[in-house]
Amino acid sequence: MLKKYVMAPGPTPIPAEVLAEASFPIIHHRTPQFQAIFKAANEGLQLFFRTKNQVMTFASVGTGAMESAISNLTSPGEKILVASSGHFGNRWAEIAKAYSVQAELYESEWGHAIDVEEVRKRLKASPDVKIVFTTLNETSTGVLNDIQALTKIVHEAGAIIVVDAISGLGAAPFETDDWAVDVVLSGSQKGFMIPPGLAFVAINQAGVEKNKAAKNPRFYFSYEKALKKLTEEKMPDTPWTPAISLVIQLKKALELIHQEGMEAVWKRHAALAKATRAGVEALGLKLFAPTAPSPALTSVITVDGVDSGLINKTFRDTYGISIAGGQGKQKGKIFRLGHLGYADGSDIILEIARLEMVLHKVGKKVALGSGVKAVEEILLAENL
Ligand SMILES: Cc1ncc(COP(=O)(O)O)c(C=O)c1O
Repeated sequence: MLKKYVMAPGPTPIPAEVLAEASFPIIHHRTPQFQAIFKAANEGLQLFFRTKNQVMTFASVGTGAMESAISNLTSPGEKILVASSGHFGNRWAEIAKAYSVQAELYESEWGHAIDVEEVRKRLKASPDVKIVFTTLNETSTGVLNDIQALTKIVHEAGAIIVVDAISGLGAAPFETDDWAVDVVLSGSQKGFMIPPGLAFVAINQAGVEKNKAAKNPRFYFSYEKALKKLTEEKMPDTPWTPAISLVIQLKKALELIHQEGMEAVWKRHAALAKATRAGVEALGLKLFAPTAPSPALTSVITVDGVDSGLINKTFRDTYGISIAGGQGKQKGKIFRLGHLGYADGSDIILEIARLEMVLHKVGKKVALGSGVKAVEEILLAENL
């Protein structure tokens, strides 16, 4: 028997209580029963996003939410700035192209965070840019960006900011309202601890104004329609059939998250990331993103002469553990260890213990137990 573990930065493991919610017979969505569930889920989402503004829920993957932001917030021919730190950041520019939007792409060196001063310079040089698209947690490189600082600079330049917080929300401290972030989007298969299939978009008044002025086409993903349905009646509703079972799971997962408390969830992620980094470094491996490491995943440079795909494959085929490989120009060069969502200290002990064994299998004879020892020391200090 090979027991299966998902230790990737999405999809992430799902608590048993949340899985069980999907096993009940389907209910109809235009009923008081579902409306009460949807209302509770919405309130949980607002606490998760740290906003009093509306959070729209779409039946979609994260890329759909990204596309919705381009189609709802831009016009054909408009110039935008994309502040990217990797593969997912660059996706903003690809979507913009499909909507005839002119994206100026600023890409930080992979493995490093977006340089806030560079964004300031670019906005100064392009005063016609009224909207900036960026990423909280760049999953392809394991980098966390400083959204509070970026938002400040973007606002000083008279523009609004749209943040892909798909893999970062629930892992990194994030204050949508306090930092005045205009539009924030996320996806269910990450810090939400539910399966893929829901995408969320939080929007403030400046975002709503930009939406009204934006001329690109949208129908299913129309923010106007979604916001109207959320607010026009006493109970929030959706324009189309919602992904009923996923919304029910979402409500349950958010209850678990808020029982723990957002600050405690962020602290747990920071500690798990710290323990993972300590374990990796104790094995003599190098971190790919040491200067702005993510609390959701740890990216690691592969050992000399070994394609990181082989490390992935060995984790999966020999030990039943799905981690993640390198993407784009880092394919074969890095591997990524997830500690996002439903993860605790025991997961990190397992992940690093298996890493030691995988390294042996691919020919790097590390001292067995040395990574795990470093992990345990951090976990003891962090009480995890
Ligand atoms: C930061 C980030 N943006 C966008 C996406 C794309 O999300 P999806 O695969 O749900 O479309 C991902 C998925 O890993 C991500 O991590």
